[in-house]
Amino acid sequence: MIKRFTWGRPVETEAVVKREAGERKLSEVPYFSQVQTGDGRVSVLTYHMGEHDIIYGLGENIRGINKRGWVYESNCVDDPIHTEARRNLYASHNFFLVDGRERFGVFVDAPQKVTFDIGYTDRDRLAVTVDAGGFDLYILEGDSLRQMVREFRQIIGRSYIPPKWGFGYGQSRWGYENEDDIRQVVKRHRDNGVPLDSVYMDIDYMERFKDFTVDEEKFPKFPRFVEEMRAQNIHLVPIIDAGVKIEKGYSVYEEGVENGYFCKKEDGSEFVGGVWPGRCHFPDMLNDDARKWFGRKYKLLLDQGIDGFWNDMNEPALFYGEDYLTKAFEKLDEYRKQELNLHTFFGMKNLVLGLSNRKEDYESFYHEYKWERIRHDKVHNLYGYYMTRSAGEAFDELEPDKRILMFSRASYVGMHRYGGVWTGDNSSWWSHILMNLQMLPGLNMCGFLYTGADLGGFGCDTTEDLLLRWLELGIFTPLMRNHSAKGTREQEFYRFGHVEDFRGIIGLRYALVPYLYSEFVKAAMRDDMMFLPLAFVYPKDQEAAVVEDQLMVGESVMIAPVYRQNARGRYVYLPEDMKLYRFRSSEDVDIEVLRAGHHYVKAELNEVLVFVRPNHVVPLAGGGCCVADVDMSRLRLLHFVTDQAEYELYDDDGYGKKIDLESGITKVRVTVDGKVDAEGALEAEWTLF
Ligand code: NOJ
Repeated sequence: MIKRFTWGRPVETEAVVKREAGERKLSEVPYFSQVQTGDGRVSVLTYHMGEHDIIYGLGENIRGINKRGWVYESNCVDDPIHTEARRNLYASHNFFLVDGRERFGVFVDAPQKVTFDIGYTDRDRLAVTVDAGGFDLYILEGDSLRQMVREFRQIIGRSYIPPKWGFGYGQSRWGYENEDDIRQVVKRHRDNGVPLDSVYMDIDYMERFKDFTVDEEKFPKFPRFVEEMRAQNIHLVPIIDAGVKIEKGYSVYEEGVENGYFCKKEDGSEFVGGVWPGRCHFPDMLNDDARKWFGRKYKLLLDQGIDGFWNDMNEPALFYGEDYLTKAFEKLDEYRKQELNLHTFFGMKNLVLGLSNRKEDYESFYHEYKWERIRHDKVHNLYGYYMTRSAGEAFDELEPDKRILMFSRASYVGMHRYGGVWTGDNSSWWSHILMNLQMLPGLNMCGFLYTGADLGGFGCDTTEDLLLRWLELGIFTPLMRNHSAKGTREQEFYRFGHVEDFRGIIGLRYALVPYLYSEFVKAAMRDDMMFLPLAFVYPKDQEAAVVEDQLMVGESVMIAPVYRQNARGRYVYLPEDMKLYRFRSSEDVDIEVLRAGHHYVKAELNEVLVFVRPNHVVPLAGGGCCVADVDMSRLRLLHFVTDQAEYELYDDDGYGKKIDLESGITKVRVTVDGKVDAEGALEAEWTLF
């Protein structure tokens, strides 16, 4: 059951699509203590947590699956140093569940900054505070965690479903400069028999970092190049940034100014901030006309054969705000004249280090939203959402019959209807494999099913073992992309010695595509999760409740990736008996049945552990060089049948927008004596693995 409470006059975020949940007075909120209005911040609720209460959710965030023991802020930010000390990343996902003495869910629908103190100030106290402004508060009650998530997801609307090729492997690097760089990437994959579906184009493809342009010197006949790649089953996926370069003669800039589509300052002039292209204006994504206009610009690339994009820098990231930069230069001139001591040197240093993403800059420009002028900081967390929405709405108009790949860096609940998210600039650190895993259930809870991290790590230098271990988690994430920053060690698989290990692991991903795609679409259509903490499936198991490094993936599989350097295995907790498939490739595997309980399980650097639940099966296809080549006509079943198993395999053409779940499902039954029978849309030859 969901109840809605409203405080003040909230800004409509359009996170929720079904608002019929009854409106209540805030004083009727259970767990609500008091509203304080000092400095405009509002304390939404305080709750005394039981000693072993677990808090799930908050989407893309640092720290564990259980969010207890830290303070988190919803305040989308571009910051590439994702350590435990952070409080906020690129997203604002204000939904969490409390599980323990009581079981309930909370969604704070507020586009301004929201703070979740979950046992930080006081170990037992959960306190949610919202910055000045109104908010809608949704309280969910229910017996099961998973059911509460489903109910929440029903009110926020169906999750984005990408084209099936978006489940293939993607290679990316900030630094691929031209056609030949990309040709080389594709050739090395194809020559080595390592599957690949997409190559990402970072900002270097653009002419002077201008959105919707292609540098003609680097890509002289772009549509022909797109076609050349397509003939090899490769999709090129260009990046689009939020900031629009200020440059005379650049049509996007000129049209934007002419029509008043950019965010303005108090005096009515356009706000100027610095990003990659230098001085930029920022489209007012919240303004209906501006959003429509910006969305239609994607057509410039769609018309050249492009069918996927990633939206970046849309917190929006500001290297500097121009007005403050002017003042900062004046201040620096003053410092130049002074002796640099404790105060002056650090004053100067902090001045320079503090130029980016300043609160005051975000307070200095405005949006025209629903016939009102709203200062940016009051709706800050909506910017990335509305940028991606601009594309999503345009795609529905421009490509009504075809799914376009889209994922974004910044997001808010609601954006999950228009695209997925990647989790931004992580680092080539072992701890970030675990962080990647721990974010997945929270993201799914908030509707973000199409998601993945920069595999191998974006910042810092990777190593072969780190990349292998990370891929061993990444083969299960819907978005599976290797991406790294300029200046770091190159990390395409062929930079390392053991090609056969990469071929085996990435090949296994392709064998799993039928299962992953099926579980994904079912989760999207049924408002369900694909990645679940163990406790969501085994709610009565006290030991499952504290597992922080294993996940259920869809209905049949549990994963327990190795994430420590030089480990040759790991401890795994099994809530019930399971069959372990230890894969070196989709053809090379050891199989054993493990009893419920704790085990030390070996996993060498080239091995992937797949645990299959009792009376469940997992379809496995013959892999191909790309998703289009995955052979759906002959499927083998991983199986652990002690009685009888039934699996619903969903499949479709992979790009149509109209999805009819029931007619795309084939039911496969396996009996204890190994008989397989299938009924449904898919004509395939089924065998037991
Ligand atoms: C920041 C993004 O997070 C990263 O993935 C990208 O490579 C750089 N911007 C350059 O565009």
